[in-house]
Amino acid sequence: MIKFVANTEKFLEARQIERRIEEAKDLLPNLQTNSMAGWIDLPVKYDKEEFARIKAAAKRINSDSKYLVCIGIGGSYLGHKAVIEALGNSSTTKILYAGNSLSPVELYTVLEELGDEDFSINIISKSGTTTEPAVAFRVFKQKLIEKYGKEAAYGRIYATTDEEKGALHDEAEANGYDSFVVPDNIGGRYSVLSAVGLLPIAVAGVDIDELMEGAVAEREELLMEDGGRAAAYAAVRNCLYEEGYNIEILANFEPCFMYFNEWWKQLAGESEGKDGKGIYPASVIDTTDLHSMGQYIQEGRRNLIETVVSFAALPRDCEVPVLDSDLDGLAYLEGKKLSYINQKAIEATIEAHLSGGVPVLQLEAPDISAKSLGALIYFFELAIAISGNLLGVDPFDQPGVEAYKSNMFRLLGKPGY
Ligand code: PA5
Repeated sequence: MIKFVANTEKFLEARQIERRIEEAKDLLPNLQTNSMAGWIDLPVKYDKEEFARIKAAAKRINSDSKYLVCIGIGGSYLGHKAVIEALGNSSTTKILYAGNSLSPVELYTVLEELGDEDFSINIISKSGTTTEPAVAFRVFKQKLIEKYGKEAAYGRIYATTDEEKGALHDEAEANGYDSFVVPDNIGGRYSVLSAVGLLPIAVAGVDIDELMEGAVAEREELLMEDGGRAAAYAAVRNCLYEEGYNIEILANFEPCFMYFNEWWKQLAGESEGKDGKGIYPASVIDTTDLHSMGQYIQEGRRNLIETVVSFAALPRDCEVPVLDSDLDGLAYLEGKKLSYINQKAIEATIEAHLSGGVPVLQLEAPDISAKSLGALIYFFELAIAISGNLLGVDPFDQPGVEAYKSNMFRLLGKPGY
């Protein structure tokens, strides 16, 4: 479903890539038995009863809430935001995001937008103890209680957390919140196809059956070929890394994919950036960023890989109008579709960057739909996990995240720090 073209003839030898692909494929069985690789089979092994409860909860939220405040950070937020931004929100419930920073300005803005409208909360935290969402949860829970009273307020809180432990789990149990599970064997950044992502995505009116179907189709194709294109992409980026290309830019020509880029950056950065190793993931939205970062990509330090994500078909299109004068010099584009012009911009950019010394990898999804999003998510999850294995790091831990936390807790006077 997701096509991959490497374009690396100028940068790598075919034999070098083939060897790495073989290595990647050999690593797959080991990866499949990893205790944190529950996401590999998730599209075919998810909890059907919970899936139905997610749909029912989404329906209820749509019927009683003008806003759903999604509280979470990192893997508990970026995946569903990526899907909702890419596909749009077709429901009557607007999704607001909180708890993904400690910014009072941001929090105040969300509170202001909520005003006195009807709302519900989806608090998402696997550990149930992360400071940013925990603080925001207190604030919005308080507002909910003030508006509806305790009992009714608790009926508007949806908690997605660990099945057995953690502060949020205990609170949800004590107060009787509607609860959903972050599976034990799935880490935050690999969790978008679990309840973590599915509830907000369903509330936004996206067909979560289609999203899962896309992931199922991609899984089947990739696993049938021992990792297939995901293994190839992982192998190529590792070969390039060995040659000194240590920054990868994910480039998308559709602005609605900005948060998909953010999701990918977390997936790649948190999975691979450790033990003094790893490709630094960056992103651009073109052609916008061709007028800002384009200069660096074309002529700056030659340590960049660019991965262009594009779509064979787009859901909407526009045409350049035909005028009776050519004062703006655009007669040569008259009657042309914007999708055609954007496609030429993609081709022109790839050609320019390749000749400027940037290896440009290409990924193409069939279209911008829930199914393609499911496929893209699965493709990148598998590719990055394989890539981390090739690099010799554990793609499922994030020990480095603790350093700022313990400093912050010490500075804030948290007991025990
Ligand atoms: O990928 C990860 O594991 C992290 O980004 C977490 O999702 C993030 O730190 C939030 O953690 P939690 O869901 O426990 O609040």
